[in-house]
Amino acid sequence: MANVHIHSSWRLKDSEVTPESVYVNRREFVKRVGGGAILTAASSACGIDGQAEAQQQGPLDNIPDTPTANLYPEAVRDPRFTVGDRHPGISTEEVVATYNNFYEFGTDKGGVWRNVAPFEARPWEIEVGGLVENPGRYDLVELERAFQLEERIYRHRCVERWSVVVPWIGFPLAHLLNKVEPKHDAGFVNFITFNRPDQAFGQKTQTWYRWPYYESIRIDEAMNELAFVVTGMYGHPLQKQNGAPVRIHLPWKYGYKSPKSIVKIEFTATAGPTFWHDLQPAEYGYYSNVDPDVPHPRWSQAQEEIVGTGDRIPTLPFNGYGEWVGELYGGVVTPPGDVPHAP
Ligand code: MTE
Repeated sequence: MANVHIHSSWRLKDSEVTPESVYVNRREFVKRVGGGAILTAASSACGIDGQAEAQQQGPLDNIPDTPTANLYPEAVRDPRFTVGDRHPGISTEEVVATYNNFYEFGTDKGGVWRNVAPFEARPWEIEVGGLVENPGRYDLVELERAFQLEERIYRHRCVERWSVVVPWIGFPLAHLLNKVEPKHDAGFVNFITFNRPDQAFGQKTQTWYRWPYYESIRIDEAMNELAFVVTGMYGHPLQKQNGAPVRIHLPWKYGYKSPKSIVKIEFTATAGPTFWHDLQPAEYGYYSNVDPDVPHPRWSQAQEEIVGTGDRIPTLPFNGYGEWVGELYGGVVTPPGDVPHAP
């Protein structure tokens, strides 16, 4: 893959990052239906039109049309958020758009962008429900126009140890919460993403995952200044492979806590389920704050590798955002009871 160099000796293979139970199920599935059947299922999900379109399109050609596109070049960068000392600079868009985790479109990080053509990411609504004063369906275009879009450079760290630095565009999650007004007994914010097996072949063929992808955070985490609703990147609306048209980004947590292409936000009194924790409870915690001192059960988290350069740098607690979020957890990066446990 152009511009992306990860040392093969250090890079985690798909079989290493995938929970064993899932991996075994997948092997059984392959045995049951045969590799050829999987290929057929994958290509028929993409459809002939989708494949032809994908061949014509490059990784940077996956921006859905929207009447709000003109707002993005105008978004002003918030100077409080910088690259930081450890990274050499902002990652190129080509790197960020060609190295993705978005299992709805396959597990090959370098190939996600090739599979997103059939996904219709606009127009889009977000349903808001549960313990909230103003439930309803919110049109994304109206939200983009209602809130001042701003650009924030955030470091983005995956649990698999790779990292990038991205100029996201969007608005604070707190602004949305203030608009919809959670009730006083709402303690948690739950995110549910799209479920369209006809447009996302992974949802059709990878039946061992519990689609749609879902996540949950505490309401005080959601109200934190860092919690960001992302609708754009690099001066334009989001590329489909990066979670168009709307995703969350929580830069102090591992990337899997930042769901892509959300369709529903639900407020509850107790914590909602989370996709990776449900699949492998011993490996993926609820909080999942970036923590160099708590290894994943199958690999260390002490270092991370910058996608695009291959440089390895030390991991920082809370991914370097401790001054913003440390007080949410009394300064403890991995709260007691969260998994994985320190050895
Ligand atoms: N959201 C959905 N809907 N599906 C996914 O597979 N993967 C998560 C997160 N959000 C994922 C998702 C993981 S593991 C990571 S690291 C980030 O998205 C990757 O975001 P990126 O591809 O924009 O870098």
